[in-house]
Amino acid sequence: MKIGIFDSGLGGLVVARTLRKAMPQYDYIHLGDTKRLPYGNKSQTQIYKNTVRAISYLLEQDCALVIVACNTASSQALRKIQQSWLPQSSQAKYKNRRILGVVRPTVESIGKFKNIGLIGTLRTVDSTAYVQELKKMNEDIKLTAKATPKLVPMIEQGNLRKQKEYKQILENYLIPFKNTKVLILGCTHYGIIKNDIQKILGKKIKIIAQEELLPKKLQSYLAKHTEIQKQLSKNRTFELLVTKSSKRYEKLSSEWFGKVTPKLIKI
Ligand code: DGL
Repeated sequence: MKIGIFDSGLGGLVVARTLRKAMPQYDYIHLGDTKRLPYGNKSQTQIYKNTVRAISYLLEQDCALVIVACNTASSQALRKIQQSWLPQSSQAKYKNRRILGVVRPTVESIGKFKNIGLIGTLRTVDSTAYVQELKKMNEDIKLTAKATPKLVPMIEQGNLRKQKEYKQILENYLIPFKNTKVLILGCTHYGIIKNDIQKILGKKIKIIAQEELLPKKLQSYLAKHTEIQKQLSKNRTFELLVTKSSKRYEKLSSEWFGKVTPKLIKI
């Protein structure tokens, strides 16, 4: 069985790249819901529907494990899916599968910091999922969160240097974090602009990028959950699925994954 990875768009590829680099032996299938992108400003109902649709599809493709590599979906839909959807009798066939999000593993990687910054989509910030998870670890943690909704469309468009307003927008978004010691990039797309963020904030600030922490987290999850690990096949394959074709997606995926052509699916 495979490992499924799901995001609305390029963020999932950012994560898939490092997971595959760290664990090339497994079989992966990545679904980008490019038709419904961006998720970040949609209603919770819409995000839930989209997430259920994508996860169901991946489970039907023989995934033992699905990683929701999208903070928006992880913070707005995942808990409901994990708690109520999978155990239902109609879904009993999925009872030995697992669905994992990105919020919890990110929070676990914070270390001893108490003043934490977060940037993410509107819905990720609205959801308060990060502050809730952080407080479970330490009541005294203070989170400064800022929604940065213009970034995903700009990253998806590409050619950031040529987008006139990009630098100014990014600088303005980062003003609240000038004195923070650590900043969580709470959107998988932001891995693509990590260097720009670091440049603006300076080297003293620690940037938590999910594509850097998730491979280790998954490795230790699989080491603990051998019942899942044992189900995973090891043929080193990688499949890419999209709900709408996009030139930028094709370009990046061929740069990062070689000869993999995204397959268009209807969900
Ligand atoms: N990569 C998704 C996330 O982590 C982007 C969401 C979007 O489509 O707006 O939140």
